[in-house]
Parts: sequence; structure tokens; C-alpha cells
Amino acid sequence: MRTRDLLRLENTGHPGIIALFAKAHSADWDFERDVDWSVPIGPQERLIGDAWTAFGATETFSRFPERARAYATRRALGRMLNILQVGESVAQNVCATLVLALREEDYRNHAAAQAMDEARHHLAYRRFIEKMDEEVEDIDHGTEAMFDSVLAMSDPLDLIATEQFFLESLAMNIFEGIQKHAVHPLLRDILALITRDESRHMGFGILYVAEWMRRSGVDERIAFARRWLAQILGSLLDRPGPIMLARVVRRLREAGVEDVDSHAPAMLREQEEINAADLAAAASGERVPHLLRSARRAGLLEPEILEALRIADHPLVSGALRAGPEHAAA
Ligand SMILES: [Fe+2]
Ligand SMILES: [Fe+2]
Repeated sequence: MRTRDLLRLENTGHPGIIALFAKAHSADWDFERDVDWSVPIGPQERLIGDAWTAFGATETFSRFPERARAYATRRALGRMLNILQVGESVAQNVCATLVLALREEDYRNHAAAQAMDEARHHLAYRRFIEKMDEEVEDIDHGTEAMFDSVLAMSDPLDLIATEQFFLESLAMNIFEGIQKHAVHPLLRDILALITRDESRHMGFGILYVAEWMRRSGVDERIAFARRWLAQILGSLLDRPGPIMLARVVRRLREAGVEDVDSHAPAMLREQEEINAADLAAAASGERVPHLLRSARRAGLLEPEILEALRIADHPLVSGALRAGPEHAAA
């Protein structure tokens, strides 16, 4: 980009995106001042309830000793926080790329404000992990490959659809889950502050995609929806299974549960029942995941698209359409 390009920056005047930029200032918080970092984290202290973690809500899991359960959930939390802290750095890179690539002044401004949010999220997760004072489990190859593919992108639509629209909608359920089940006050407090920022980021993704859909022809809209609904439905149907169970079993064994292998089949069976109940709640419209709410709000669930993709009868799609207006409100 040259000076002449910057002299000609166009402001789209999108009221929603301009409001998000203003909100980034009025809802600002300071990483040092607004979080009480003096609250200690004990070495064996329980940080989050069992039900947060995969297999933690099963009947079999609840019968293991408290010390083993607290250890296993803390290990799962440490792994997740490690994914989140690096995910924040990825998001910061995405925003920096967007600032350089976007030609719309109001969109650039949002990306610049979001970059600063992501910087403090990264610092907050890192500081919390440091206070846990233990080696956290490494991130898995699949997550790393997914982040690498995002870091290699340069097209604004690809970047925003992947980061703000898809990943931040997906992450919103993770943030809400940690916040809901956190028992350590520091964990709950930082998640409350971060979730507030993340809902703006997700909002930008929805508004940007909605605007792109509005300006695109029907074939382009269908092609976009085909790609992203496949991704969204695929990720929602990917529920805790054997791979996740292997991690839980390993952690319980590390915590001294010697006969854990003999309990694994029961945990898997019970988790499958929980998975089915969660999907039923999404299909009934009672608990619609953010990914589907975002898809609906951005216009991916419009009748002509569902008809072209032949997914109008998909239970998760019907659930998203059945959900009340508070789920669909922009
Ligand atoms: Fe973030
Ligand atoms: Fe974010």
C-alpha cells in the first residue's frame, strides 16, 4: 500500500462496525490494574469443576478420588490455556495482516483495536499459566497445523471468515464453558473480561460476512455457505471420543489411579450419552452453539442456500432456525 492509497481510504460507514470500534474503547480494561494478580494459585489447588472437561461429567469419573479428579481437570485446563495463549498470538497476527490488507477505514480500525485486545488476552493467559507453576501439556498437531494455515493466509475474506467468524464463534463456547465451571476466582475474572472482548470480535466476523453475502451473487453465496457450513457442522459433530479419552486416562494414571483402564469403556459409553443429549439440545433449539447462531446471523441459513445445499432438514440447522429471537439478534 502507498501513501496515495491511504489518502483515498474509504469509510463504509457501517454503523455496527463503527459501534464495535467505539465499544473497544468504552469497554477497555487494563491487564495489570483490572485483574487481581495477587490471588495465589496453590500447587494442587482445584481450578475448574469436573463437568468442564471431556469425560468429567460421567458417572464413572465422579467416583475417582477428589485428588485425581482435580489433577486431571487441571491438566486439561493447562492444555487448553496453552492452546488459547498461542491462539491469541495467531489472532494478533491475523489482525496485523488485516490492518495492512483492508482498504476500508472502519474495518481497518476495528482490526487495529482487536490486535490490542488479543495482545492483552495473550498476556493474561500466559500470566495465569505461569502462576500455575507447572509444565503444561503441548498443543496437538491438528491444532498447530490449523493455526499454521491461518498464519499463511493473506486474503481479507479468508482471514475474517476463518478467524473472527469461525474460530472466534467456536472459541466463544469454550470461553463460556471455562467461565461457567471455573472455581478459582482469578480464572473466572480473566475469562469474564476476555469473553466480553471476544464477543465484539465474533460480532465483527458476523457483520463482515453478512456484508459480503449481501453484495455477492447467489452462486457465490452458496459456494461460501457450502464451504463454511461443512466446517461448522463437522466441528459441532466432532464430540469427545477415544482420542480425548486416551488423554483423560493418562492423566488419571499420572494421578495414581492404577485400574483406570478398566473404567475407560464405561466412561466412553457415558460420554456418548452426554454427546447425544448435547446434540439433541442443539437440535431442539434449546442450546444453539455460537457457530450456528453466527451462521444464521451472517445469512448462511437463508432458504435459497439451504435448498441448494439440501440441508434444510439437518437437525442442527433446524435447531438454529427454531431458536428464539434472542439467539438470532444481531
Ligand atoms: Fe482473544
Ligand atoms: Fe479475539
